[in-house]
Amino acid sequence: MPTVLIVDDEPTPRDFLQKILADQGYATLESGTVADAHSQIDLGHADIVLLDVNLPDGSGIRLLERLSQEQPGLPVIVVTGYGDIEMAVDAMQTGAQDFLTKPIDNTRLLKAVSRASEAVSLRQELDHLRQSRRDQYSWVIGDTPAMKRVAELIDRAAPTAASVLISGESGTGKEVVANAIHHLSPRRNEPFMDINCAALPDQLLESELFGHEAQAFTGATKRKHGLMEVADGGTLFLDEVSSMKPDLQAKLLRAIEERAIRRLGGTSSMKIDVRIISASNRNLQELIDSGQFREDLYWRLNVINIDLPPLRERAEDIPALAGTFISKLNLEMGKEVRGIHPRAIEALKAYRWPGNIRQLRNVIENAMLFCDGDTIEIGHLPAAISKM
Ligand SMILES: Nc1ncnc2c1ncn2[C@@H]1O[C@H](COP(=O)(O)OP(=O)(O)OP(=O)(O)O)[C@@H](O)[C@H]1O
Ligand SMILES: [Mg+2]
Repeated sequence: MPTVLIVDDEPTPRDFLQKILADQGYATLESGTVADAHSQIDLGHADIVLLDVNLPDGSGIRLLERLSQEQPGLPVIVVTGYGDIEMAVDAMQTGAQDFLTKPIDNTRLLKAVSRASEAVSLRQELDHLRQSRRDQYSWVIGDTPAMKRVAELIDRAAPTAASVLISGESGTGKEVVANAIHHLSPRRNEPFMDINCAALPDQLLESELFGHEAQAFTGATKRKHGLMEVADGGTLFLDEVSSMKPDLQAKLLRAIEERAIRRLGGTSSMKIDVRIISASNRNLQELIDSGQFREDLYWRLNVINIDLPPLRERAEDIPALAGTFISKLNLEMGKEVRGIHPRAIEALKAYRWPGNIRQLRNVIENAMLFCDGDTIEIGHLPAAISKM
C-alpha cells in the first residue's frame, strides 16, 4: 500500500484523516509545515500527498507549484476551505490530482486517495517497463530480501564458470534465472543449450547429451553431435536434473571432472568447456538420502546454489510482477489495461499460488481476456482466488 503524507497545521484534522486512511491499510505520515512536508517528500517518503492550503510558513499552492516541477509524477490532493471554488480551480490548474473541500467527506476522501494510488502503481509499472527495456535480462523483480539475495547470487555467479544449481517449486522462475546467468556471463555470445532430463527416455537423453557415432546402436544411422559438444564455450542447462538415472549421473560426473566427453560408440574423447546450470523442483538432498542421486555429482553441480522462494512467501512483489505482465500482454493482446483494483490486488496477495509466477501470469492473461475496461476487477479473477 502507498504511503500518504498528510499536511495540515492542526493536529485534530490530521489525526482524523490519519485514522480513516490507516483503517483502509494505508501507511501515513504527518507534517505541519510547508518546509517539513517538502523535506519528507524530498527524501522520497511519500507516495501521495494530502495537502491543506493554509499553512503557517506559506501556502500549500506554492508547495504544489514546486512539486509539479520537481516531482511531476507525485499525486497531490489539495484540501480547500468550504466554498473556496477559486482556490480549487487554482489547485487543479497547478497540477493537483484532485481536491477536497472541508469538512472532508470520508467517502470522497477514500475515492480520491484510491484513484491517486492507482496512478502510483501505474507509474511503478511504467518504471519497471522502462527498466526492463534498458536491460532485457533484468527480469528478476522484487523487493523482498529473498529476491534481493537471488539477484546478488546471479550477479556473483555470472562472471564465473562455476556450476549453479537452482532449486524452487514449479513456476518460480528457474529457467528465467538460468537464462539470466548465461546472458550476463562472458559466454553470452556462445550457445545456451537446454534439455529437460525428465522429458526423454534414458538412452535418448544420453545420446542427446553426449552424441553418438554412426552405428553406435540400432537406428543410429548418422553421427550426432551431443548438446555438451554443441554448447562448447557456452552454457548447458539441465532442467529437472533429479530425473537423471544413476548410470547417466556417473557419466555426467566423469565429463565434468575430466572436462571431456566421448560420443556413444566413439573411441576418442574430446575436450569441452561447458558451464553447467541445473535445476530441480525436487529436494535433491532427500534423493541422495534415498540413494537415487549421487552425492558426488550433487557437490559438482551445486557449487553455487540459488533457491527461489515460492510466490506466496513474497506476496508484496505480486503488484510489480502483475504490472509487468499487464504491460507485456497489453502489447500482445492490443488491450489498454492500466491497473488492478485494490480489492483484486488484495485477493491476489492472499492466494497460495501452487503454480507460482507461471500461474500468476496465466491468471492475469485470463483476467485481461474478460476485462473490457482499463482496470482488472475482482470479478475478472477465478473463483478460487476471488472467494478467498
Ligand atoms: N522474475 C520474473 N519476472 C517475470 N516473469 C517471471 C519471473 N520468473 C518467472 N517468470 C515467468 O514465469 C513463468 C515460469 O518461469 P520458469 O519457466 O522459469 O519457471 P520454472 O521454475 O522453470 O518452472 P518449472 O519448475 O515448472 O519448470 C515464465 O513465463 C516466466 O517468464
Ligand atoms: Mg522450468
